[in-house]
Amino acid sequence: MGFSKDFVWGTATAAYQIEGAAYEDGRGLSVWDMMCRKQGAIYKGQDGSVACDHYHLFKTDVAIMKQIGVKAYRLSISWPRLIPTGTGQINQKAVEFYNNLINELLAAEITPYITLFHWDYPLELYCRGGWLNPESSDWFAQYTSVVMEYFSDRVKNWITLNEPQCFIGLGHCEGIHAPGDKLPLEEVLRAGHNAMLAHGKAVQVIRAEAKTKTNIGYAPVGDVRVPLTMDAKDVNAARISMFKVTEHGAESKVWNNTWWFDPIFLGKYPDDGVELYGSKMPKINSKDMDIISTPVDFCGANIYHARLVKQNDNGQIQEVDFGQGYPYTFYGWPVIPQSMYWGPKFYYERYKKPIMITENGMVNSDWISIDGKVHDPQRIDFLGRYLKELKLAADEVPVHGYFLWSLLDNFEWTMGYNQRFGLVYTDYNTQKRTLKDSAYWYSRIIAENGESL
Ligand code: NOJ
Repeated sequence: MGFSKDFVWGTATAAYQIEGAAYEDGRGLSVWDMMCRKQGAIYKGQDGSVACDHYHLFKTDVAIMKQIGVKAYRLSISWPRLIPTGTGQINQKAVEFYNNLINELLAAEITPYITLFHWDYPLELYCRGGWLNPESSDWFAQYTSVVMEYFSDRVKNWITLNEPQCFIGLGHCEGIHAPGDKLPLEEVLRAGHNAMLAHGKAVQVIRAEAKTKTNIGYAPVGDVRVPLTMDAKDVNAARISMFKVTEHGAESKVWNNTWWFDPIFLGKYPDDGVELYGSKMPKINSKDMDIISTPVDFCGANIYHARLVKQNDNGQIQEVDFGQGYPYTFYGWPVIPQSMYWGPKFYYERYKKPIMITENGMVNSDWISIDGKVHDPQRIDFLGRYLKELKLAADEVPVHGYFLWSLLDNFEWTMGYNQRFGLVYTDYNTQKRTLKDSAYWYSRIIAENGESL
């Protein structure tokens, strides 16, 4: 019961958020380099050009992970670093960098989980239409093939796309993430369809070309609903609400679960979504859904928070306000640990795949204390509460792993360096890393496999 002996205790990052070296060794530009140059797009005009300088300091970072005792590390490959123009010419310097990083991890007995796409889309391909181009899924398949050729002899765990709700929803619908577009809904849905096709084709390429046994997943946003009480009516209200396609006011029109999970795991778009989007639906070619639903091995979800739901006296599903004084993180996200119980449970119920928490963590306003240490009791409390709920979930459904976001404080997209998610504090002037109290705490939790939670 609880966490299995081989539970994957990990930590996660993404290339653009930590690597830096944006103009070095032949890296091509990505849509995030472009976004960061748009006036007012990013907090104080910051960007990822230096970030945590992980490109040069990766050995230090792997040594820190070894010190913490993490079993696995979820990193992403920068597509434009590997293939600067997105297709064609391969950058051997990038091959060298990722080879060195992978080898360093393996030598430290840390299992790499590689995300193929964590938002840094090649600028060159964006100029050719990006995700709207009918060839975009083939570009992604070709890139995947290059990754297989160079790295799949040592890496077996692959995650195709990170959070399509963000790079399509926030990036192409709301325009607040790269590439910063506000497209009409039909184009947003078309871009999303192409991204899911890209996922499916990538899964097929990995299966066909990987040089070792593979373990493949996908990491969408886990948009969880938590029932107000354990009463069956509230539980059912939460379940229905979690798997519904709705337009949430000013939020992204495509911010939901089923639009992004059902095609992958069930081979079809959800009926309510098809009805809601009506004439805006993307054109679906005959083989598309088969490609998109090429079987994967696990269901990933990035879960940070949730909405509270109940069934009201009229039998309707109602979202419940958290109330005055409710705890929120520095991002304004509600602290709701039960999301770690209900999320895995509801996803497993519907998709019947082992669950991996591909991201969870807490943003805080951390600083170095007068004693030279970083005391982050809120993060320890937050993680303890969330992991306790995950452990309860693991009693009931297969939960295979947990990746804590993030190893290091890093470039938090539109929030720049203002938001710190790391277990390790990054001083952006000196690049000095300082383990926060939570890193020592996580280290103990890993060593005892979550026994004390
Ligand atoms: C999800 C994203 O995958 C990651 O890049 C981001 O930094 C974290 N959430 C925190 O917002």
